[in-house]
Amino acid sequence: MLTSFWHWYVIIITIGTILGCFWLLQWTKGVSNRDEEGDGTGTTGHVWDEDLVELNNPLPRWWLQLFYGTIVFAFVYMVLFGGFGNIAGVLDWSQEGQYEAEMKTATEAQEAIFARYREMDNETLIANAEANATGQRLYANSCAMCHGSDARGARGFPNLTDDDWLYGGSFDTIMQTLENGRAGIMPVMVAGLDDKAIGELVVYVQSMSGQKADAVMAANGKKNFDMLCVACHGADGSGNQALGAPRLNDQIWLYGGEPETIRKTLTEGRNGNMPAHKDLLSEDRRRLITAYVLSLSE
Ligand code: HEC
Ligand code: HEC
Repeated sequence: MLTSFWHWYVIIITIGTILGCFWLLQWTKGVSNRDEEGDGTGTTGHVWDEDLVELNNPLPRWWLQLFYGTIVFAFVYMVLFGGFGNIAGVLDWSQEGQYEAEMKTATEAQEAIFARYREMDNETLIANAEANATGQRLYANSCAMCHGSDARGARGFPNLTDDDWLYGGSFDTIMQTLENGRAGIMPVMVAGLDDKAIGELVVYVQSMSGQKADAVMAANGKKNFDMLCVACHGADGSGNQALGAPRLNDQIWLYGGEPETIRKTLTEGRNGNMPAHKDLLSEDRRRLITAYVLSLSE
């Protein structure tokens, strides 16, 4: 809100400017034209290049009327939309008002859509093409930069289209993943092992996923695996969804199954982080995205 000083300041300048324009028009119209003979050949008296003269004819009537029209327009406009300091226009228009009205219409339209989806159970939602189209747009805005536009992920970012889940692929689990985020913690467990023992562990991890591996080295590696790794990855390497410990006895990798990558995972640890989205996306939106993600792995 304007203080009363600025209120009057604006009013006086606005009205003053418009009246000033009106006065200017009147004045120029009234300036006597030197066309003493009245035959339209009067000049301003300026002469250049010996014989170049400036005519001094009155402004055409239509031109003048156009000017008066703009003055009338200015007053009508300000009476309708406001412009005299604090005084609101008779249409009661304001920038904030228009913004709020548009937001309200948009929210109401969305609310109607969300209300319809809220009534559907999860299975119906996963199968609903329209819901998935909305889910896909939300996914593209919020998730694609990490999980890829096709949701197939990348190194360190899990593929969401397969049936292999770090934390679980039920509707509720994915909703939890979105709401609170996830932090995978793979600690460095091999600090006490020498290079040879680490190499044997790597070979054992390779062998678990069906890669060709030296049987003696793998057998040696298994001893350390049974001591250091089973608590999280399970005796047979099938992982633990409560911890987000990946299954190691398949060919799907979060970081990679090449010996150098496995070695890096073991010697440096890994800390994959899925950010929480509860403050970024409403529950309705998270539910649509979850349904979309699950529709990809159906
Ligand atoms: C900043 C990057 C980033 C963004 C943005 C992100 N994610 Fe993730 N997400 C990850 C990472 C990294 C993991 C793996 C966490 C781990 O290693 O424990 C993950 C894990 C997941 C998982 C668990 C997968 C499993 O196998 O259990 C799901 C589901 C998931 N994200 C879905 C989404 C969806 C849907 C969105 C969009 C709302 C999203 N993510 C946004 C990085 C991201
Ligand atoms: C405290 C639980 C825990 C222990 C103990 C642990 N891990 Fe992990 N491991 C994890 C978690 C959690 C991840 C996923 C990290 C992430 O999401 O960033 C992981 C990831 C891995 C990966 C990467 C898999 C991929 O798909 O790229 C390998 C390989 C691995 N662990 C091997 C081992 C080995 C070998 C040991 C024993 C020396 C071990 N882990 C001990 C929890 C553990």
